Amino acid sequence: MKTDKNPAKLGFATKAIHHGYNPLDYHGALNPPIFQSSTFAFENSQQGEDLFAGDVQGYFYSRIANPTLAILENRLAALEGAEAGLVTSSGMGAINAVFWTLLSAGDEIIADKTLYGCTFSLLKHQLVRFGIKTHFIDMSNLFELEAAISDKTKIVYCETPANPNMKLIDIKSVATICKKFDKTFIVDNTYCTPYLQNPIELGADYVVHSATKYLGGHGDLTAGAVVGRKEDIDQVRFVGLKDLTGAVLSSHDASLILRGLKTLNLRMDRHCESALKLATELENHPLVSEVFFPGLTSSPFHELAKQQMKQFGGMIAFELTGGLTAGKSFIDNLELIIVAVSLGDAETLVQHPASMTHSTYEPEERIKHGFTDGLIRLSVGLEDYEDIKQDIFNALELLDGAELPYQQAG
Ligand SMILES: Cc1ncc(COP(=O)(O)O)c(C=O)c1O
Repeated sequence: MKTDKNPAKLGFATKAIHHGYNPLDYHGALNPPIFQSSTFAFENSQQGEDLFAGDVQGYFYSRIANPTLAILENRLAALEGAEAGLVTSSGMGAINAVFWTLLSAGDEIIADKTLYGCTFSLLKHQLVRFGIKTHFIDMSNLFELEAAISDKTKIVYCETPANPNMKLIDIKSVATICKKFDKTFIVDNTYCTPYLQNPIELGADYVVHSATKYLGGHGDLTAGAVVGRKEDIDQVRFVGLKDLTGAVLSSHDASLILRGLKTLNLRMDRHCESALKLATELENHPLVSEVFFPGLTSSPFHELAKQQMKQFGGMIAFELTGGLTAGKSFIDNLELIIVAVSLGDAETLVQHPASMTHSTYEPEERIKHGFTDGLIRLSVGLEDYEDIKQDIFNALELLDGAELPYQQAG
């Protein structure tokens, strides 16, 4: 994109395709080059010294910065409405890079009680080894949040929608409380992507992502991202990434994410459309006891979803009347849908959180933290909707002992 255009005025898709890259700066190459170089030559010893001292800007070592990654970082920041961005080799790499930059022994974190299994494990079992305690609360109760805040609180953390039960947190209200008490608010925006939700604009200080999911979008890489204020992201880069985690992304994977971003809005529209149709149909199925999806008018989070999300996302969780046993048989009955963890890919993926992504919770913790052992998580893919639906309804019919496959109505 030629620099004379005003990037703030451009729409989401235009920014996702063009922001921060002018082919004419790179021999006319339509796609940003992959800078496959660990190190960058200095003109002379003085330039090396100046770069290390931060007196001049430039590249010197790819664990700190790389031109391909920089294009991706600036583009993600623009899409999220943030000043700056940083990419990492996984979502956990991004979360750890921010945490380790901000935290010291004796500090405390307040987190919502429903979190992706490895984030939960990090907070519950790992950070305590370094003297950092986490209070897990129901962050949809703002009184509970205010009551939990103390002088020791350093970070307030949530996912919304939360993995795996689709619980929503009111980002704007939590941000207001965090501002009042001068606490850092971090939101995991993996389920929404910047296309559906912009926590920075709602008052969050940092947004983290597993870019492994919708941002990459094709199940061919692991990556993470964090965006926020420029001075904060500089700190995460020079402390959390450079010294503490070293979780640097490869330039090849950065290039694949740049490619994924070009179709993010189209893919998300399709994920959202199919998920809404499927959630509505599942809700009416006699073998389904509960569907967790904020697009349903029956969802306790429907009104909040309409306020802070542009659409309702592509993830659905549901429970069968037959509980865990029926859930496992259902998964085994599926033919098209792939049994796998991760999410946000072209393929529809199904998994059982209690025995897979959330097996880091003890059985009694799962109920306390808001989800049952029978819960099934579905990442609705980009296949033809009728094929996804038919596979699911056939798998349900088989549970019921019916012999005929599901017949499409009409
Ligand atoms: C909501 C959420 N946050 C963070 C992560 C961690 O990301 P990664 O697997 O890229 O490390 C995941 C992974 O599933 C996730 O679902």
